[in-house]
Amino acid sequence: MKVADKVVVVTGAASGIGKELCLRFAKEGARAVVCSDIDEAGTQVTADEIAALGTNAQTLVKICNVAVESEVVALAEAAISAYGQIDLFCSNAGIFTPGGENVSNDEWTRIWDINVMAHIYASRAVLPGMLERGEGYLLNTASAAGLLSQVGSAPYAVTKHAAVGFAEWLSITYGHSGIKVSVLCPQAVKTAMTAQGGGVAALDGMLEPAQLADTVIETLDEERFLVLPHPEVLTYMRRKTDDYDRWLGGMRRLNDRFYEAYRKREQDGE
Ligand SMILES: NC(=O)c1ccc[n+]([C@@H]2O[C@H](COP(=O)([O-])OP(=O)(O)OC[C@H]3O[C@@H](n4cnc5c(N)ncnc54)[C@H](O)[C@@H]3O)[C@@H](O)[C@H]2O)c1
Repeated sequence: MKVADKVVVVTGAASGIGKELCLRFAKEGARAVVCSDIDEAGTQVTADEIAALGTNAQTLVKICNVAVESEVVALAEAAISAYGQIDLFCSNAGIFTPGGENVSNDEWTRIWDINVMAHIYASRAVLPGMLERGEGYLLNTASAAGLLSQVGSAPYAVTKHAAVGFAEWLSITYGHSGIKVSVLCPQAVKTAMTAQGGGVAALDGMLEPAQLADTVIETLDEERFLVLPHPEVLTYMRRKTDDYDRWLGGMRRLNDRFYEAYRKREQDGE
């Protein structure tokens, strides 16, 4: 799918990956970019920066907490009422929570709602219109953590796996009805989320959001499912499926290295 002349909605549009995608979609000639986030001031800045590009893209700022279904419905309705339809919905907002099984139930619920349920709410809100037209594109941001794992964070690893699983399911179920689905699975990208460093995910380097946007545009053009800004991730996936136990052994060593470095930083008082 070419983004030119399309109506695009992006959640998490105030910062990082979502913001960069909004700007890039405008540069690619999108007809309208609906910028959505819980951060009202930040979202307005994104819309203002799009306007300053001088492209033909119209912008709409819509505040929406993606963890609340009625707000996601209102976002889709606002976009459709302004521009008639949604061609591409980027369910991108997400959060990171460090820790393991002992993370509180409230925090597990919060990250589940934002990193997983938001994709489900978005699909419920936009699929009826897309299915009626026989076309539409869903780009869901997961993470390489959803294909591999996340050293240091069970909630992130688990919710991102669920996000990948749901995207696969959407593609399998609606692919023959004209619906395209892609899932964005980066390792570390320089955003507010990785301001303290990207941890293990940064071992292959931290990408600039603009580099990630290049891969997104290419993959949307080719209508492929996996969006892999870090190509190494495909190799790691192959290693995982080729010999799961060997892969787990390697991940344990990575985990040990991570916690050793973490303990050292704590001792040094950094
Ligand atoms: N930065 C990375 O290294 C990296 C790697 C892989 C995947 N991701 C994923 O990319 C997506 C974007 O992350 P980012 O790195 O740009 O982070 P970011 O923190 O820069 O931006 C996230 C945006 O989401 C918004 N947001 C948070 N909760 C929300 C909610 N409930 N409703 C609406 N908006 C909400 C925030 O206000 C923020 O503007 C996330 O899903 C993240 O998990 C990031």
